[in-house]
Amino acid sequence: MRLTLHQAAKELNSGHVVAVPTETVYGLAASLDHPRAIESIFALKSRPRDNPLIIHLAEREMIDRFALNYPPHFDELADAFWPGPLTLILPIKDDVPASVCAGLSTGAFRIPALDLTRSLLKLTGPLVMPSANLSGRPSATCPEHVEEDFGAFFPVLDGGVCMKGLESTILLHRESEWVITRLGVLSPEAFLPILGYTPRSIGFKGSGTPLSPGQRYRHYAPIARLWLGGSIHSSISCIIGFKECSYPPNKRVFYLGSLGNPEEVASNLYQTLRQIDAEGISDAWVDMDFPRTGLWLTIAERLTKAGERM
Ligand code: TXA
Ligand code: MG
Repeated sequence: MRLTLHQAAKELNSGHVVAVPTETVYGLAASLDHPRAIESIFALKSRPRDNPLIIHLAEREMIDRFALNYPPHFDELADAFWPGPLTLILPIKDDVPASVCAGLSTGAFRIPALDLTRSLLKLTGPLVMPSANLSGRPSATCPEHVEEDFGAFFPVLDGGVCMKGLESTILLHRESEWVITRLGVLSPEAFLPILGYTPRSIGFKGSGTPLSPGQRYRHYAPIARLWLGGSIHSSISCIIGFKECSYPPNKRVFYLGSLGNPEEVASNLYQTLRQIDAEGISDAWVDMDFPRTGLWLTIAERLTKAGERM
């Protein structure tokens, strides 16, 4: 069910969950003032309870209500990238609902760039928003994807297709440096002029206190089995690749875009993974022969995770 801005605000302010567009991907939103709505997000997505949620705000000043203190370079990062696809992990005061932060002493904050999202946030106040997909599935980049996962009658604020198509980059400050806990739309190199260094990307797998709890789980995966690079087995009928490359004949090719345009590839990635499932394709070979710098790093990481078997 597609909602207008004011209908979406009314639903959220009454304690209901609504799917909301951002410039990155669609989010499944609940008001920070409605703990039951926040609880239902975990149930709707089948999201593990130990995977915390990003708090989205209309204005940077609103973070003062939550943040215990600000790490070095916080202002410079905020000035450079907000509103936009950057999420910053900050130490928080203890009045943030424990379910939002999964009991951690930190919270994740983002000011989205899409005008429609910020207009909504001005009407609702802070919203928690994980990506609007069933846990483990590719994120939703248009209302149809949300409806695929949650049903045709699920309330969606219609913002059309997301401009970026991949999630925000998440930065955490520890041991006197910022590190990337999730690669995203902003490449590691983008932070060099602001920080004076390129933050390292620290993935997380295994046990112990997670710096990025979500990184432990299977993500972004289609039902189809993905074969990442290597030789193309004759039984594979479908290829995910790039416009300027030639592939064996009699295979169906899904083009992500051009090797000269990683932004285009990023914006088509989840749509392509979902389309393969919609067409009932069981196996797809993915052309992994692309650079490993800038946005390509994020694209490679998403494809690698999408190809992981349980
Ligand atoms: O672009 C985005 O970030 C989208 C849009 C809707 O804003 N949101 C999104 O949310 O991708 P989600 O829940 O799919 O991913 C949020 C990630 C998870 O991996 C979670 O573990 C991590 O952020 N996270 C949240 N709070 C955290 C915290 N306090 N410390 C470390 N990681 C945190
Ligand atoms: Mg997600």
